[in-house]
Amino acid sequence: MTEAEHVSFQPETDRNWEAFYKQDVSAKIPSFSRDGRIYDCIYAQQFNRPLLDELFTITDKLRDITKTVEGEDYVSSLLRNKRTMLWFTQPSTRTFLSFLNACQILGMNTSDIRDAKTSSEAKLETFYDTVRTFSSYADVLVMRHPEAGAAEKAAWTLKAGDRPIPVLNGGSGPDQHPTQALLDVYTLDRYLQRNMKRNGDQASAERGSGIDGKKIALVGDLKRGRTVRSLAYLMKNYWDVELTLIAPEQFKMESDIRGFLDKHGIPYHETDNFEEGIRDADAIYMTRVQDEHDATKGESAKVDYSGFGLKPKHMRMIKKSCIIMHPLPRRTEIDSEIDQDPRAVYWKQERNGMWVRAALMSYVFKKEGDILGYNPVKK
Ligand code: NCD
Repeated sequence: MTEAEHVSFQPETDRNWEAFYKQDVSAKIPSFSRDGRIYDCIYAQQFNRPLLDELFTITDKLRDITKTVEGEDYVSSLLRNKRTMLWFTQPSTRTFLSFLNACQILGMNTSDIRDAKTSSEAKLETFYDTVRTFSSYADVLVMRHPEAGAAEKAAWTLKAGDRPIPVLNGGSGPDQHPTQALLDVYTLDRYLQRNMKRNGDQASAERGSGIDGKKIALVGDLKRGRTVRSLAYLMKNYWDVELTLIAPEQFKMESDIRGFLDKHGIPYHETDNFEEGIRDADAIYMTRVQDEHDATKGESAKVDYSGFGLKPKHMRMIKKSCIIMHPLPRRTEIDSEIDQDPRAVYWKQERNGMWVRAALMSYVFKKEGDILGYNPVKK
């Protein structure tokens, strides 16, 4: 960009944003990388298998190192000079807290805005000025926003300004939730691998990811559930995965995802028959109705969702080695009695989010070598 272009740049009104946004994701991905690495985490499609494997190795190592006070001291010194802005103007418990705690693990300071009414957005400050202000104080922006494309717009708009910082998408409307997909894949991998070992299949457990060759059922509001959408994209990184998409007609997976699965040769089967769909699954991923995205008031309430809940009787029908996941929060999709079943891993999944996000943050700031190379001093 020349000096003159820079001065005339008006991110809010610039029709270049519309032109950029309309492009195919694969064409946009290079703009979110720097030095051959992911810089902004906007789309699940940015991740390939070597990077996923690397991030999960960092995750495991972080968990291990921080078991001792000495290791925790070491890790919490790694990013002491970096600051995170947490901009969450849509409700969040887990994503917010896990990012916050991930930052604390790495020694980062944080600032947050959790309600647009309490920031200058309420004074009609422009989107660009708001995010540009965050970059005056922070070295990375983590954001959740009600609109699809918002994180991407923040990354794009910051890049055109004078102080770009990385943007990590913590959920953009009904569109994507890439860091949730990371923790979901980590959880699938680790717990399916555990099951293979338990079943005496040591060789396959050690060969690849626990996900390779598995049948995964995605259940619920697949149309507007950003977690299942991002997770479906990540499936291209695994061998011989089969998906069962279980949803009422009104909440069927959208054609963009189905087209992606077709393009990448990932077989899938769509059904509205919950019991038939879950029977031979290796993992069942439950989701709630995303009624905050209703186009007309009360639209979701008209859909009969009663047949899309996991009840104790279903635990006798499914595989003994199957794992049950949920991004949470849940409503009635999983009976709380199921929490006691060892196949329910959603509380572990929730905690995994903190470690995976810490690993991602360390990768963004190129600290993975310091983590992987750490050896405690022998006493
Ligand atoms: C999900 C979300 O916000 O998309 N929650 C989360 O981040 N763990 C799922 C949901 O709200 O249903």
